[in-house]
Amino acid sequence: MSLLRLLPKATKPLQQRIVTVTPKRFSHMISVHRDTPKDNPEIPFEFTKENLERAKEIIAKYPPQYKKGAVMPLLDLGQRQLGFTSISVMNYVAKYLDMPPMRVYEVATFYTMYNRKPMGKYNVQVCTTTPCQLCGSDGIMKAITEHLQIRPGQTTPDNLFTLQEVECLGACVNAPMIAVNDDFYEDLTPERTVEILKGFQSGDIPKPGPADRHSCEPHSGPKVLTNETPYHVKDFIRDDL
Ligand code: FES
Repeated sequence: MSLLRLLPKATKPLQQRIVTVTPKRFSHMISVHRDTPKDNPEIPFEFTKENLERAKEIIAKYPPQYKKGAVMPLLDLGQRQLGFTSISVMNYVAKYLDMPPMRVYEVATFYTMYNRKPMGKYNVQVCTTTPCQLCGSDGIMKAITEHLQIRPGQTTPDNLFTLQEVECLGACVNAPMIAVNDDFYEDLTPERTVEILKGFQSGDIPKPGPADRHSCEPHSGPKVLTNETPYHVKDFIRDDL
């Protein structure tokens, strides 16, 4: 006898259950290392001569017994040299600082600034936290995904751009904004964002910073400290001080 015949007849239509899934953030994508042809411990890594000098300067800032405090700047140095924080970079830094490799892995996988997979030449980070979102970061993300034809976490086939969706980058006052490698591009519109990307594609480095203002002054112009003659602190303190 078919099992279905034993089941009671449904009297009400089944209710549809809606399941929503939080999209994966780029930084969550690789929390576990898996050997790949581009990232495995057999690939040798060591600092260049220049970076070795830098590493020595960095370590000199820490007391000798706390040199492992230099793990973050050294990982950053390794990432800048190779393009991403590979397992070989982490192992090298661990050996360089006499640390258990696991301690270094913990740091590198906790902080999202360490990229654990090969990156494009330009790392495009789009801030989508509340202030940027209120100022139109959804439109910025849409413009980028449509122009580059990639989604967050992906790299363009020419290896020019990797796109990431990130949390607040600390330039909320000039929202919406993106970071491309170490530079911030602020006061964005979808059109300006595409212009910036086209600039990179043509081999130029577009001028970073705000769009039409000097810094983060109000769009309608300065409201304070507008005197032509700057204040001097002596104007406000007693003569005998
Ligand atoms: S919310 Fe985007 S920079 Fe702060």
